[in-house]
Amino acid sequence: MSTTTPLRGLKSRPTDGTVHGSTQMKRRKFLQSTAAAGLSASPLGRALRADEPLTLTPQDYEGPYYPVGAPNHTNELIIGEPQAQVLTLRGQVVDVHGNPYKGALVDIWHTDPLGRYKHPRDSSAGKRWDSFLYWGEALVDDGGHFEFRTYIPGAYGRRPAHIHYKVWQRKKLRLTSQIYFKELGGTRGASRSPSLGDLQIVSLAPHGDGLKTYLQVVI
Ligand SMILES: [Fe+2]
Repeated sequence: MSTTTPLRGLKSRPTDGTVHGSTQMKRRKFLQSTAAAGLSASPLGRALRADEPLTLTPQDYEGPYYPVGAPNHTNELIIGEPQAQVLTLRGQVVDVHGNPYKGALVDIWHTDPLGRYKHPRDSSAGKRWDSFLYWGEALVDDGGHFEFRTYIPGAYGRRPAHIHYKVWQRKKLRLTSQIYFKELGGTRGASRSPSLGDLQIVSLAPHGDGLKTYLQVVI
């Protein structure tokens, strides 16, 4: 059973899983730009003084739905006209001194807007969207920046909306964690690190026809 949570004050999009060919949303060319999203990272993730090390991003559960099969080597998870609210996820991977974490590969996976994973273990009803990849990856640039174009995930069961991610460097796993959304209820106690869960919460802001957010990952 899946549910979606409306975003108050933000433009809603159809999320019933059907194809809305009449959508007025113009297909926007997805920029691979690594420019900052215009949002600052959570202040909770930053040191208060320049000479203080940043707090490491907490680990979180991988969960049972890590994708199987060949990875999608793309940071654009939406194919064709968007069928739901688009999320532009930008961020930066840094070390505790704020230096770019060069060579990092960010690997994200999450539900569709109806709260369903594309995974053999997920028995949620309904055909999965052909126009959504559910899984993608982005290689950071020299500044440690990455960017994804995807959907706002749906909540399911007792789990608030979230995006799973891993950070790899030279094929070695460096971090497994999750992103939660302030406007969608935050972690709701679901984080593996209750004391540091706030570091995993990002804020949403309008961005064109969709939403954007910014994530700083400290490794
Ligand atoms: Fe999950």
